[in-house]
Amino acid sequence: MTTLTLVQGDITDQSVDAIVNAANSSLLGGSGVDGAIHRRGGPAILAECRALRASRYGGGLPTGQAVATTAGDLDARWVIHTVGPVYSPTEDRSALLASCYRRSLQVADELGARTVAFPALSTGVYRWPMEDAARIAVTAVRETRTSVEEVRFVLFDARAHAAFAAVTG
Ligand code: APR
Repeated sequence: MTTLTLVQGDITDQSVDAIVNAANSSLLGGSGVDGAIHRRGGPAILAECRALRASRYGGGLPTGQAVATTAGDLDARWVIHTVGPVYSPTEDRSALLASCYRRSLQVADELGARTVAFPALSTGVYRWPMEDAARIAVTAVRETRTSVEEVRFVLFDARAHAAFAAVTG
């Protein structure tokens, strides 16, 4: 039985087994969650990302996929990097966004992670409307069979928190 919890705060402050990063396909860092994780997690994370780019993911991590690295100096054992879709008003990319949550939970299961913190994927730089992203996120997590015991959505501000609270009920 997976418990969904909502927290308003900074995902890099969370003490969990795995922290999910809102990455881009390069895996070489960025702003937002990506910037915060690399800044607080330190160079060990980027070193492993570079190694992944030099091996399994030569062409980059595809949208909707997930891969784990060390969590470096963060209070977690792993960072699970996933690449959300950029919002499109004309093309329905919902399945790709749902895939980020499903694949991240599958990677968490492979690792044996029992507590996983997610940000509101794609709702920043990738411009996905918060309410719709929250619906997709909660639905995807609820529909995924996993051994993860706690899925913690870490929302950066009150608006995001309210959007997720409206969906989780
Ligand atoms: N903790 C929790 N949530 C955060 C944090 C943080 N430290 N920083 C930002 N957020 C929130 C944002 O407010 C937004 O709601 O996370 C959500 C996702 O925003 P982004 O980090 O911009 O991620 P995304 O929209 O998926 O865009 C990914 O941005 O940083 C680049 O390299 C990244 O190219 C990739 C793109």
